[in-house]
Amino acid sequence: MGGPCLSIQHALCVLLTLLEDGLQNTRASATMGCASWCPPHSTCVNTTACRCHPGFTSSSGEVVTSIVDTCDDINECKPPLMMSCGKFAECQNTEGSYHCTCSPGYELISGATKFSNESENTCQDMDECQQNPVICKSRRICVNPQGSNTCKCPPGFELNPKYPKVCQGRGPG
Ligand SMILES: *[C@@H]1O[C@H](CO)[C@@H](O)[C@H](O)[C@H]1NC(C)=O
Ligand SMILES: *[C@@H]1O[C@H](CO)[C@@H](O)[C@H](O)[C@H]1NC(C)=O
Repeated sequence: MGGPCLSIQHALCVLLTLLEDGLQNTRASATMGCASWCPPHSTCVNTTACRCHPGFTSSSGEVVTSIVDTCDDINECKPPLMMSCGKFAECQNTEGSYHCTCSPGYELISGATKFSNESENTCQDMDECQQNPVICKSRRICVNPQGSNTCKCPPGFELNPKYPKVCQGRGPG
């Protein structure tokens, strides 16, 4: 430094240096303040903790503090949660979530295939006979019991065991 350094300049120098140090520290803690070992399906909270994403949990709960812990899918369809899908419906677990579907032979009034809980359940019996009039081939009578389609055969005939929608004459015996 050649010129005379006024005390105001000194003060400014010191202040700027402090500010710069402070900024560097802030930047350093922003990058170093995050655990680099966070397991899949989690986000870092600080240097010692990661938080599992919604729908995932670890053996120690939502927050993971051990490098050997993992964030695992919560099966919403099993205890203790056991999300209720309502009547004629089934709970389907997915990674990080779940959804409900109507049981086989049932469908939502809207025609959609998935819904999220009991309050949205409009599962109703599909009338397969009406939807598919040829489902039972000639000589068969289509009946529509709750939830599944059955073809019935007229007297003297029986359903072909190989093709349950085809009636055949009863064999001897
Ligand atoms: C890190 O976050 C966890 C969970 O929020 C907390 O319990 C812990 O005290 C925090 N540790 C530090 C060093 O901030
Ligand atoms: C069911 O779903 C509706 C709409 O998605 C939501 O508002 C409601 O809180 C849910 N109920 C339960 C019990 O999860």
